[in-house]
Amino acid sequence: MSDAPSLLSYYRGAAFNPLGIDLSDPARLPAHRAKREHLYQTLLGLPLAWLRGREVLEVGPASGENSLILALLGANLTLVEPNEHTRPHIVELFEHFGVRERIRELSASTIDAFRPDRTFDLVVAEGFVDSLADRELAIARLCEMTSPGGLLSVTRHEAVGMLAEFVKKAVYARASASLPEEGRLAVAKSLFAEDYARIPASRAFATWWKDNLDSPVVNEWLLWPFEEMHAAFRSGGCRYHASHPNYVERDTLRWYKDVPTGEERERDVLDGHLRRASSWVLAGPLFEQGDAKIEACREVVSSFRAFVGALARWTRQPVAPVPSPETVTGLDRRLGLRFAPRAASLMRELTALLATLNSGGREAIVGQYLASSTLRSVWGSHYHYVCFRREA
Ligand SMILES: C[S@@+](CC[C@H](N)C(=O)[O-])C[C@H]1O[C@@H](n2cnc3c(N)ncnc32)[C@H](O)[C@@H]1O
Repeated sequence: MSDAPSLLSYYRGAAFNPLGIDLSDPARLPAHRAKREHLYQTLLGLPLAWLRGREVLEVGPASGENSLILALLGANLTLVEPNEHTRPHIVELFEHFGVRERIRELSASTIDAFRPDRTFDLVVAEGFVDSLADRELAIARLCEMTSPGGLLSVTRHEAVGMLAEFVKKAVYARASASLPEEGRLAVAKSLFAEDYARIPASRAFATWWKDNLDSPVVNEWLLWPFEEMHAAFRSGGCRYHASHPNYVERDTLRWYKDVPTGEERERDVLDGHLRRASSWVLAGPLFEQGDAKIEACREVVSSFRAFVGALARWTRQPVAPVPSPETVTGLDRRLGLRFAPRAASLMRELTALLATLNSGGREAIVGQYLASSTLRSVWGSHYHYVCFRREA
């Protein structure tokens, strides 16, 4: 059990809708639909035609803009959303798009209290499972609710990819310390709004700010190692199906007739996760040599986990000194590898920026961040979708 603050209480207390994708103009639907279809069909191996007539459970749909796409593809939905501030929007949205009848049930329950009298072909629980105090129990419940052979889609925060996120959060925490809410939002805009406008984000800037930079929930407790999440799904009788980013490096190399046993396949998933992890630091290769030994990959992951965790904890009380970045900036020397040019630039910027966090005032910190072009270019490599399959 973790002592993390509750995501649900944070949302309820602030009467906040974390999804907030504006579909009031139906012309915005195709772009949103394209992103969700690409995610499910192309990246998670879930054919869209398979959804037609399927029974789908989505836990935590917020205001339902993602669930809507499943309904438009012909799925029947059971929706479980305890936040009273977003639940009413779901019905309005589905009515607006003429798919109200696709909702079988809309429950106000939390995941632990929901007790359906059937199982589901697809269970979706995105954006909250790794924040829960007892996530193993939540995963056990999700597995039980999935039909044998059915699929289960969850998200997780990857510690290695969270470097850029927690650097943003550290800069923001120091630059906005002791300001009221509107002052904090103004600081966030001065730091990040220009870059945010350039990425294909779905949510408004203020929604992202409240759900990430300003949220007490986004902290080291979200850094749940993949091995532990994977073990929880295995205990619930599920196996890895697919993920984005793809964790199984060997699939691109192994002849299809060379069939791994079930256990070999799960080992490939865990090793593949370690092997691929270093490229999530900056959405590209960390080292020039692409064939680092598995022990080196493990060291990269554990160094990043330790540093990113320390940086995350620091954002809760951002007074000097900031944690030293040496454990990650010195990885090239320790492992006898050479940082790729972009990674070398990132490490230089990180060292300079953290030094400014120790000694500089608000203006110097904002200026130093805005001058860090590599760091500023890293977005979105931390939020992973993982799809598991319940054994038949
Ligand atoms: C970050 S939002 C994600 C919304 C949407 N699923 C997505 O991925 O964009 C998390 C959602 O999980 C819900 N949630 C949080 N704790 C929950 C719990 N214990 N049981 C069920 N839902 C929960 C919140 O109310 C919110 O709607």
